[in-house]
Amino acid sequence: MANILVVGGAGYIGSHTVRYLVQHTDHKVVVCDDLSKGHRQAVEVVSADIPFEQGDLGDGDNIERILRQYRIDLVMHFAASIEVGSSVADPACYYENNFIKVQRLLAAMRNCGVEYFVFSSTAAVFGDPKAEKIDELHPQLPINPYGRSKLMVEWMLKDYELAYGIKSVILRYFNACGADESGVIGQSYQPPTHLISIVLEAALGVREKVTIYGGDWKTPDGSCVRDFIHVNDLAEAHILGLEKMLSENRSADYNLGSGSGYSVREVIAKAKELSGVDFPVEVGPARPGDPARLIAESDKARRELGWEPKRRLHEIVATAWNWEQHKTF
Ligand code: UFG
Repeated sequence: MANILVVGGAGYIGSHTVRYLVQHTDHKVVVCDDLSKGHRQAVEVVSADIPFEQGDLGDGDNIERILRQYRIDLVMHFAASIEVGSSVADPACYYENNFIKVQRLLAAMRNCGVEYFVFSSTAAVFGDPKAEKIDELHPQLPINPYGRSKLMVEWMLKDYELAYGIKSVILRYFNACGADESGVIGQSYQPPTHLISIVLEAALGVREKVTIYGGDWKTPDGSCVRDFIHVNDLAEAHILGLEKMLSENRSADYNLGSGSGYSVREVIAKAKELSGVDFPVEVGPARPGDPARLIAESDKARRELGWEPKRRLHEIVATAWNWEQHKTF
């Protein structure tokens, strides 16, 4: 049994992981979140007993107090800025939030002797895919500040392990989506930033139409192809990864996707089928920086962690649709 601090635990992937930890493990969970994007309710609905600390991950004194007060053994870090487009417009924000503040968080951990870290990284560290499927050995050549800010932390973690003995699990998400089957937590960014939430807003009638970014990509139906992975499959991978790190006392990195791709048009068709709403769709210009296809090779996670993503596109869109219709925050 470990004492785990989940930084960013009131956010989207953080809250699903907190729920998974509480429901499936004996670990003791503490959440720290500055509530800039996260929601206090996302933790409260999971359990009223989870200690919640509102604070910034870059506030070293406060983090040190929390680490000492709750005798933390391991830190999971979900608090980040995550939009590619805004990272190009405001890179300072991304280097500050995603790199400098993580350096402070790691300094607090060192000061308190906390040796284990779980880090949310991204497919964006790879840049343009040079292979059909992206495995952990794919060259890391990010093409935007978001990907670069995350890759800098990956490098920092490798150096910190050698010098200071901090062990880490680096988890690179592909397209995280879907919501908890209970319907009590889900993705809640205002305005929505990712495809499935945008599409479901159109199904709800909150948005007039969906614009497909580019219709003549070299893909079967001309729209981009992505590897959509359900947030609860991601949550499970975090727990498998941290258990392995704790039991073997060593670091690892994993690419987390389903291994299969769906096109933007397939996502839209599934949303229309499940909602029963035939909302308008138009094809617009391609979005700068979008690769045509982005698909994970997740064999390493399957092999080493025994991880098997269980939910496919149908469950992803169905759970997201359930959330969008009934969400309370
Ligand atoms: N898309 C549309 N219309 C929209 C919104 C999105 O056609 O209104 C398309 C995008 O062009 C893309 C696909 O839907 O082809 C998915 O777009 P998202 O914005 O939902 O997600 P991304 O694929 O851009 O982002 C994902 C991860 C990021 C990661 C990035 C790396 O969410 O964390 O891949 O390229 F950085």
